[in-house]
Amino acid sequence: MNIKLNSIKVDKADVLIIPVLEDGKEEMIESLSEIFKHAKEKEKFSGKHGEVFTSIKAKKAKTQDIIFIGLGKEKELTGEKIRLAMAKALKKARELKSELIYVKYINTAKLKLDVIVNSMVEGLYFGDYKFDKYKTDRKDQPSLDISIDGIDNASLDKGEACLAESKTLAEATLFARDLVNEPANVMYPQTFAEKAKESGEKYGFEVEVHDEKQIEELEMKAFLAVGRASDNPPRLIVMRYFGDKDNSKDILGLVGKGLMYDAGGYSLKPTDGMVDMKSDMAGAAAVLGAMTAIAEQGLKVNVVAVVAACENLISGGAYKPGDIIGSMAGKNIEVLNTDAEGRLTLADAVYYAIAKEKVSEVVDLATLTGAVLVALGTTTTGVITNNEKFYKELKKAADSSEEKMWLLPSFDEYKEILKSDIADLKNSTGRNAGTICAGLFIGAFAKDTPWMHLDIAGTSWMDNEKGYLTKGGTGVGVRTLYYLAKDRS
Ligand code: BES
Ligand code: MN
Ligand code: ZN
Repeated sequence: MNIKLNSIKVDKADVLIIPVLEDGKEEMIESLSEIFKHAKEKEKFSGKHGEVFTSIKAKKAKTQDIIFIGLGKEKELTGEKIRLAMAKALKKARELKSELIYVKYINTAKLKLDVIVNSMVEGLYFGDYKFDKYKTDRKDQPSLDISIDGIDNASLDKGEACLAESKTLAEATLFARDLVNEPANVMYPQTFAEKAKESGEKYGFEVEVHDEKQIEELEMKAFLAVGRASDNPPRLIVMRYFGDKDNSKDILGLVGKGLMYDAGGYSLKPTDGMVDMKSDMAGAAAVLGAMTAIAEQGLKVNVVAVVAACENLISGGAYKPGDIIGSMAGKNIEVLNTDAEGRLTLADAVYYAIAKEKVSEVVDLATLTGAVLVALGTTTTGVITNNEKFYKELKKAADSSEEKMWLLPSFDEYKEILKSDIADLKNSTGRNAGTICAGLFIGAFAKDTPWMHLDIAGTSWMDNEKGYLTKGGTGVGVRTLYYLAKDRS
């Protein structure tokens, strides 16, 4: 997909995508006014959000498809609504076998230029995403040339910069989706580490991969316990981007849960709960995706991302319910449930980021609990923090990406629940407050460093297509992490 601004003339395109506000006063393109009038007659098309009307314009030899796409009322317009509308229109344009696509810029005072360009571009990209590489009968679709037209000349430079950033963000998000959608027999610790290395070379960040011996030397005992049963050895992947070299004080730490597969271990999951567990590395995919975007845009920030990649399986050497294991921080952990493995790998990864990489703040992203689905569903990511100011920064970033986040409480009473009778902490606390307790377990290893935990178990995977999200990985977190880094630059 190749998107440009003001590049394809109206009458040269195969298809015209015309976004329409329900109550818009904007003038229609002269040559479409008849068709638009026809569309509006008898309420065939009124511009309600998501409404689509297609028509054909035939003038002499040149025939064009027209797609009117509704945006809803102007005062209710958001970037998210634009994303949804653009994705829908793009799918329609694909159905119509278009290759040269003209998209009319959404000219509205309701939103800023950067929001409009960003949401239009992301919507177009997301609407065209497919994960069909394993279908041998798939047909390679022609690549699309798209022009977003109608930005006034004075705003064109700003528009170009927004376009470039939006392409980066869309591609990084779709990259994360790909990583999640790859099955676990393809995407395991070593191959994920290879992907990280390739990305580092391509976008310009340093990638260091520690193998199982080095992980042992680091004494990451909790991480090692989880990964022990797999024939695929664990990898500790460290990605470093120093865009602000003069500043050695501020380093943003990103930690992604990297369970390349989670069968539950001896606390084995039922088959139904296991089938989608290749996605238990969506946090790792999000931080890798975010790193590519941060580096590609050359942000003036320092970011270090850490992924403790392993698989949670069963074997004669596996860790067992009842085991007491150590951790890099020195704390002993009573394992009551081997399926509560994410917090164990993250405890060591977060501690490593603080102790060895000297990050000044740390955010972890993890598909950590089924409980977050019960609490917030598939639309909203649950957040836990030890620092409200840091959460405000996240909230601002999430306002830019329009990814939904919600802060859960972290009262001391919850921390009491984590205490073990015979060790320092226990890894499983029963049914109550599952998401909060799981998050606070990780927080116990962050000590006084500003820390935030995003439980993306509900938002990183869709069981069915929904809006601009396809069935499977969503790439959630990539764009929010990017804005979090950008706002610090
Ligand atoms: N990876 C799962 C959480 C999960 C569940 C992610 C559903 C995506 C969809 C995690 O490792 C897990 O198994 N959590 C347990 C914790 C429990 C044993 C305390 C859970 O949520 O049931
Ligand atoms: Mn688990
Ligand atoms: Zn898991």
